Amino acid sequence: MGRAVSLRRDPLPAGLHTLADHEAHARSRLDDATWAYFNGGSADGITLAANREAWGRLALMPRVLRRLEHAHTRIQLLGRELAHPILLAPVAYQRLAHPDGELASAQAAAAQGAGFVLSSLAGTPLATVAASVRHQPERGPLWFQMVMQRDRDAVRERVAQVEAAGYEALVVTVDAPVQAPRDLQWRAGFRIPPGLAVNEQPAPAPVPLAPGDSDVFQRFMAAAPDWSDLEWLRATTRLPILLKGVLHPQDALHAVEVGVDALVISNHGGRALDTVPATAAALPPIVRAVAGRVPLLVDGGIRRGTDVLKAIALGAHAVLIGRPLVWGLANAGALGVAHVIRLLRDELEIAMALSGCERLDQAASALPGA
Ligand code: FNR
Repeated sequence: MGRAVSLRRDPLPAGLHTLADHEAHARSRLDDATWAYFNGGSADGITLAANREAWGRLALMPRVLRRLEHAHTRIQLLGRELAHPILLAPVAYQRLAHPDGELASAQAAAAQGAGFVLSSLAGTPLATVAASVRHQPERGPLWFQMVMQRDRDAVRERVAQVEAAGYEALVVTVDAPVQAPRDLQWRAGFRIPPGLAVNEQPAPAPVPLAPGDSDVFQRFMAAAPDWSDLEWLRATTRLPILLKGVLHPQDALHAVEVGVDALVISNHGGRALDTVPATAAALPPIVRAVAGRVPLLVDGGIRRGTDVLKAIALGAHAVLIGRPLVWGLANAGALGVAHVIRLLRDELEIAMALSGCERLDQAASALPGA
């Protein structure tokens, strides 16, 4: 069995029927600065808003009088059958939302058969999180998210730890080699408490700057990886690699050529470059370009079962949720996160039933014109 972890048993507050209810309740539990960190986007928040609007704008087309007693939400992903297509996205500093942090969200994911991606900026050692869920019978996939740097010794060492701990894939995030402006969080005076991230790779060391040089280019971008580093990583580990933060079809194709096993179509929940397309808009061109060679996952603004169904109907294999897990965590620790996942699963089942969709690999039939 996994190492026993002792989690707080917070009761589930009354009146939480949707993810929006969780959001409103979490707002009242977190202070302004912490809220700005978790819920804000970058700069003007244009992509943050666009993510949600784009899912809402897409229409579903109901089909009636179909027999659906054999319907289910199961999917195949990277060689495994999963009970449903919802995963928890890597989200940093979860202990700011609840003392149990990642241990709680990992437990909740395991209990709900949801995939779990541990952020490289977690407040719990990666081996501790893995040991707490690894042997749970119904759990979904357990993946580790890393930010690659060019320092190959550091990456090699990290990958060895991740493999030894039993993680089943690496999620390599490539859309945030420098932090985008975080207006809300700056105005709210948010500061990351020291010592909160225990698995973190240190930020690139300051470099002497000549006139005309900048930290952005000569420090952060100089330490950031490029395609050759991804090729090197591919040759270094046998773990499946998912590339997270791809929006351009040519980047998607390049990644497939390098040998990644899956792509996460993501704009970092509107926290990286602002004004980039909503993920619902970025997904279809990538689906066409990749043409089924690797599975595609998508995140950003997924808040309803209908959003999940639409993402899959557009060609994604699975979806991830970021902020909603934080809301559940703030509201009731592990139970709150499990509740968020369960609500989304219930809504997905209802959306499938009412659109006449028996299996998610037939979800495209739920779109108008199918
Ligand atoms: C993130 N995200 C993120 N991504 C990543 O690869 N590594 C990380 O450490 C983090 N940290 C993080 C913190 C917070 C507070 C948020 C909100 C997001 C991005 C995350 O994995 C995911 O792409 C988005 O959160 C998905 O959008 P929604 O569901 O939050 O709208």
